[in-house]
Amino acid sequence: MRATAADMEVRFGFRAHWLVTTSPSPALSQTTCWNGARVCSGTWPSVFVPAGAVSDEDYGPNPDIVAPIAAVNYLGPARIAATFGRAMRSRGAGQVILFSSIAAAAPRGRNVAYSAAKAALEIYARGLRKELEPKGVRLAVIALGYVDTRLSFGMKLRFPVADPDAVGEYVVSRRLHGRCHYPRFWWWITLVLRHLPWPIYRRMPF
Ligand SMILES: NC(=O)c1ccc[n+]([C@@H]2O[C@H](COP(=O)([O-])OP(=O)(O)OC[C@H]3O[C@@H](n4cnc5c(N)ncnc54)[C@H](OP(=O)(O)O)[C@@H]3O)[C@@H](O)[C@H]2O)c1
Repeated sequence: MRATAADMEVRFGFRAHWLVTTSPSPALSQTTCWNGARVCSGTWPSVFVPAGAVSDEDYGPNPDIVAPIAAVNYLGPARIAATFGRAMRSRGAGQVILFSSIAAAAPRGRNVAYSAAKAALEIYARGLRKELEPKGVRLAVIALGYVDTRLSFGMKLRFPVADPDAVGEYVVSRRLHGRCHYPRFWWWITLVLRHLPWPIYRRMPF
């Protein structure tokens, strides 16, 4: 992270900080908060919170996986968003970018706790945005389709898999706010899935 941040600073001319935090302990360390204050002292502070994880054990009713999956996909990112959101609100500038998944709109037997955690993150972001946006702070949550990363490695996927560089380009080149989808076509698919009556939804082949 140190090398990547230094490389970005040299090539693109902005200050880059990184934060190290570990879920399932969603508590933020002193260092994280201190780094947060430094980030927010920039002219247009931007915070990206890409943490997320799935588990093979997140299948059907598994009580042991609910808390760890919620910690990394919801509790940790929500706390980070709140920490930075508060600092940015007092300065009236900045943006927080969170990462969700199309799974939030289409829960199924596999990744059931993951879907719920991402859905919780989206709801949290919606509420936070209502408070932060009038104070000059942008908040976006990107619902990603399949992306070619470690997280999706080895999965049998029926839909196109996005290039992580394209995701990065999309995230930094646009003035994102609210809930966004990447690739865009997922907006339509998830819209339909969200509104399917249960007797049809439960027959869907995913
Ligand atoms: N890839 C996909 O198909 C896909 C689809 C939908 C949504 N997403 C979402 O996109 C975001 C980025 O994921 P990715 O595809 O880039 O996957 P990735 O390469 O596996 O990256 C996941 C990131 O989360 C961090 N992380 C994992 N477990 C953690 C923990 N317990 N505590 C703290 N950090 C943890 C990882 O840190 P380390 O590198 O230190 O392990 C890594 O930085 C995630 O929120 C994911 O849910 C991905």
